[in-house]
Amino acid sequence: MVKNATNSTPSNFIVRGYREGDRESCRRLWRELVEWHRKIYSDPTIGGEDLEDYFDKHLAKIGPKKIWVAIQNAGVVGFAGLMIDGEEFTIDPIVVDSAFRGKGAGAQLVRRLVAEARKLGAKHLNVEPVVRNVEAIKFYHELGFVNIGQVQLFIDFSQKTWARRLKMHNLKFDY
Ligand SMILES: CC(C)(COP(=O)(O)OP(=O)(O)OC[C@H]1O[C@@H](n2cnc3c(N)ncnc32)[C@H](O)[C@@H]1OP(=O)(O)O)[C@@H](O)C(=O)NCCC(=O)NCCS
Repeated sequence: MVKNATNSTPSNFIVRGYREGDRESCRRLWRELVEWHRKIYSDPTIGGEDLEDYFDKHLAKIGPKKIWVAIQNAGVVGFAGLMIDGEEFTIDPIVVDSAFRGKGAGAQLVRRLVAEARKLGAKHLNVEPVVRNVEAIKFYHELGFVNIGQVQLFIDFSQKTWARRLKMHNLKFDY
């Protein structure tokens, strides 16, 4: 059964707005986000070098008021950002410390962002996990993200191997 991200359920985590003192933790979490994608694609080059810079760039782009952190025992264990384009809202990114995954922190962050998006007048709240990120898709699906809009299809001119198969509209795709 699909859980509703608007329901509030008890959690060990506190979610609050980003503060400057969270920067180092969020940089570390951004590295984990990239490392996760390197792992699922078996590609150590994803994200390039100087990974921590990406968090700073993202923060400068969306602003500190659009980032929330999940806290346990005074430590940051996850964060999520909210990108806003008119009435289109997108969660980007969301990452939980690998040592704290599967304990409800991610769900708590998403619930907060759903509430913020509703409050700010969103028409849609979007998430854009890569198709290879099956765990993230299951996570979002559990939290009520059950509508699919645009699908990004592409021709790959690189030497990457796309071994996995997905069927949609009776057509086969590699992901
Ligand atoms: C995706 C992510 C943010 C989820 O955070 P989390 O704190 O581990 O998730 P939660 O514990 O709140 O899980 C909520 C529900 O999602 C589902 N879920 C979470 N992780 C899952 C997994 N690996 N496989 C299947 N379902 C999963 C479960 O139904 C879970 O509820 P349950 O534990 O009561 O069954 C975290 O795994 C992560 O940081 N992944 C790496 C970064 C990433 O992929 N980010 C998304 C990119 S778009």
